[in-house]
Amino acid sequence: MSDFLRRHAWVSGGRGGLGAEIRGHQSGELGVGGRIPGRIALAPALRSGLLFPFPTLLMPQTIAVLDFGSQLTQVIARRIRECQVYSKIYHYSTPASTLRADNVAGIILSGGPQSVYSKKAPHPDPAIFELGVPVLGICYGVQLMGHFLGGEVEHSKAREYGHGVLTIQKPGRLFADLPKKLRVWNSHGDKLTQLPPGFRAIGTTENSPYAAIEDAKRSFYGIQFHPEVFHTERGADMIRNFLLGICGVKQEWTTRDFIEHAVEKIRAQVGQGRVLLGLSGGVDSSVAAALLHKAIGKQLTCVFVDNGLLRKGERETVEKLYGDHFQIDLRVVDASKLFLRRLKGVVEPEAKRKIIGRTFVEVFEKSLKSTGRAEFLGQGTLYPDVIESVSIGGNPAALIKTHHNVGGLPERMKLKLVEPLRELFKDEVRRVGEALGLPREVVWRQPFPGPGLGVRVMGAITAKNLEILRNADIILQDEMMKSGYYYKVWQSFCVFLPVQTVGVFGDERTYDYVIALRIVESTDAMTADWAKLPHELIQTISSRITNEVRGVGRVVYDVSSKPPATIEWE
Ligand code: XMP
Repeated sequence: MSDFLRRHAWVSGGRGGLGAEIRGHQSGELGVGGRIPGRIALAPALRSGLLFPFPTLLMPQTIAVLDFGSQLTQVIARRIRECQVYSKIYHYSTPASTLRADNVAGIILSGGPQSVYSKKAPHPDPAIFELGVPVLGICYGVQLMGHFLGGEVEHSKAREYGHGVLTIQKPGRLFADLPKKLRVWNSHGDKLTQLPPGFRAIGTTENSPYAAIEDAKRSFYGIQFHPEVFHTERGADMIRNFLLGICGVKQEWTTRDFIEHAVEKIRAQVGQGRVLLGLSGGVDSSVAAALLHKAIGKQLTCVFVDNGLLRKGERETVEKLYGDHFQIDLRVVDASKLFLRRLKGVVEPEAKRKIIGRTFVEVFEKSLKSTGRAEFLGQGTLYPDVIESVSIGGNPAALIKTHHNVGGLPERMKLKLVEPLRELFKDEVRRVGEALGLPREVVWRQPFPGPGLGVRVMGAITAKNLEILRNADIILQDEMMKSGYYYKVWQSFCVFLPVQTVGVFGDERTYDYVIALRIVESTDAMTADWAKLPHELIQTISSRITNEVRGVGRVVYDVSSKPPATIEWE
């Protein structure tokens, strides 16, 4: 779910990625003016010494990933990107002739939920094994190799699931430079029981004598476990060995290339059409906006809804960055009065969320009518959001759940979706944002809930309470930035408590409100712990808030972990 959607149709968790960061992007970045995905390379004739002075546009060397419906297919693609190699996910049934025409340098057969014997089993074109390029079968992929190349595969009803220990017998090229024993992660039903001719076992696990197999002559490799997941030790190195050592591809696919490629795709999809995008100021919608703007400039219109529940200066920052700096056609809709009117006297957190969500969709929809006709709705949907909802390109991934787009907007208004980030994980999106020139504060900003300060003012939301909270929160952010802790913690924010307590200010007795500081560490928001910040820093924040914010007489530090407490108070 995109940042934008998540904010307005809240689902818990789902912050993506399996931990690894995309690696550096230093190698040969040739701008190609955004025309063709790929790099300018000298014509083969020129390279071979015959002078032929026209540069030719070549596709980068491509690794084909045939998708048999695994939830992990995109993770394989991600691992390939981490090696700075270009990959393309193909439907499992893609004819070998297409792969030949695309000049693929190697093929990876993904895992998949089916048994090779089931009626619905997705099968590849058998001619892919005749193409003369290296093939790596993963999980279901290795069973396909067994099935198609003359081995035996045993159907088993029970799945082998979880950790195993791989013992490498013959490192060969696939396991080059790896330790002899490695923890690996399994998830498969069928099992290879007899090797196809020409193959030999190169690794075993407790449960399988054929956990890893090779036919080095034809460069065919198969592994029963999943090298793409984080839980398989050195799995990324196995993929790297396949790409660089076996397929012999060069590392030349970078974040810049991704951007050029995405720009091309957006232009091809949108043509002369117009795209509308709901900008929330969060990472995903910001990066999507910057990318779309690079691709189609004035054909993009961004809509930013001021719901009256934003932090101090937030709207101005958005206007400055996107309107002034990027010169994006930005429409700011001030609906703050409407939101606050509808929220008047509402105390119950879920009721607040519902009102805010519904009002947002209504305001957004209405604003689209005044922005003029558009054919497309842009969204910063990321891959972890996609995998929760739909299969990619009609591939057979088991659907986990189906999302609805902003209140059914695209269907109602006949808008087509443009989602240029839907194959990326969060950290990759951040790299793209950085490469597009978005400032660090945007790219690395902390999560902020869609209902905004509406769920940080406890009890009824009033203009006065919001004002107190905003003034306290800006002090907290200022001190967190100055001390460098802003980027070290998961979230840091203030909560307004409608509780009056007694204090003294000068010679006067006061009876003012309480601000709670909520500062947590986390990796995925599913669990969190309160941050052990230096006492001096907490002291500075506390005394600045009580001294500078009228209406606050006391500051408390929230020392609850999640679970049992949640990060937000409502
Ligand atoms: P909790 O409070 O459930 O929050 O521990 C986990 C993470 O999600 C954020 N959060 C929200 N984000 N809409 C959002 O877009 C919401 O309604 C919402 N509620 C919580 C929260 O800030 C934390 O990062």
